[in-house]
Amino acid sequence: MLERRHAMSNLRLHEIISSSLKKREKLQNRETSLIRLIDGQGDNLDGHILESYGKGWLISTSGSNLRSDVREILSSYEKPLYWKRLDQHQKESPIHLCGEELPEFFSGLENGLRCRLSFKSGYSQGIFIDQRNNREALRKMVKPGQTVLNTFAYTGFFSIAAAVAGAVTSSLDLSQVYLDWTRENFLLNGIDPTNHYFCKGDTFHWLRRFAKQNRRFDYIILDPPTFSRDDRGKTFRVEKNYGQLFELASACLSPEGKILACTNFRGINVSEFMKQLKGAHLKVSPMPEDFTDTPYLKSVWATFR
Ligand SMILES: C[S@@+](CC[C@H](N)C(=O)[O-])C[C@H]1O[C@@H](n2cnc3c(N)ncnc32)[C@H](O)[C@@H]1O
Repeated sequence: MLERRHAMSNLRLHEIISSSLKKREKLQNRETSLIRLIDGQGDNLDGHILESYGKGWLISTSGSNLRSDVREILSSYEKPLYWKRLDQHQKESPIHLCGEELPEFFSGLENGLRCRLSFKSGYSQGIFIDQRNNREALRKMVKPGQTVLNTFAYTGFFSIAAAVAGAVTSSLDLSQVYLDWTRENFLLNGIDPTNHYFCKGDTFHWLRRFAKQNRRFDYIILDPPTFSRDDRGKTFRVEKNYGQLFELASACLSPEGKILACTNFRGINVSEFMKQLKGAHLKVSPMPEDFTDTPYLKSVWATFR
């Protein structure tokens, strides 16, 4: 009896996993290998997030509860499989579970653009795939010669999306490691990074500097972490300081320009977030369709005319 129940629940789990993968078949193609394959409760698999990074899969769990039956079924797909605990220390890399071990750096594709990835360089893998649609929207909007300021740039994938459309980009980040990674991403996509700008330091400081110098950008991307501390120890919290960040960015925007304001902070909803974006016309953009659980990323395009 117990064995029968076990077999039934195993069958159900097989179905959940294979139907989640099937649902995303259209999204994963020759142009895009970076997608979310299972989104926790959104795919009836609470606490488990599976993402494809092209050459390998990454299963993320909150806590140490990677279910052994989930692990067993995923292993049968014969893909290199890595595991990340979402509550682990931010510096820890994913753990290799099975399949071939991937090299320190490899690459994946998003809408035809190549991204340098790693499962060995700490907590993040080189791209936040929940921004796929926003990057594609930016790529379609910008015109050759327009200027794009990508703040909190991380590995610069917003800059890459704009640069392939002919924009002149400025990528801004506190971390030299990520600015170097951004340069690598330019090279991977056959774009000469010397035609683009790289600014190391705090976003707030740079925005004040740009405003003083009367520098204006056609597009500004704001996608800060929920909490950050600048190089002088000053803190930033989405719920308290986003309004100020938005105001500073607005001062560096050309009259016809657009700001993409994002936050993945779960503690506020989209209308609370929009209240911080004062004086602009706002258009909300939804999360990509492979993110089926409760939406957490709030993305708003702001214009002033
Ligand atoms: C949430 S990620 C940004 C994600 C990125 N926009 C993307 O879509 O790939 C956070 C990035 O912000 C950078 N960062 C954190 N605080 C910063 C600050 N005060 N000024 C500039 N960059 C900062 C970090 O180094 C990290 O690369």
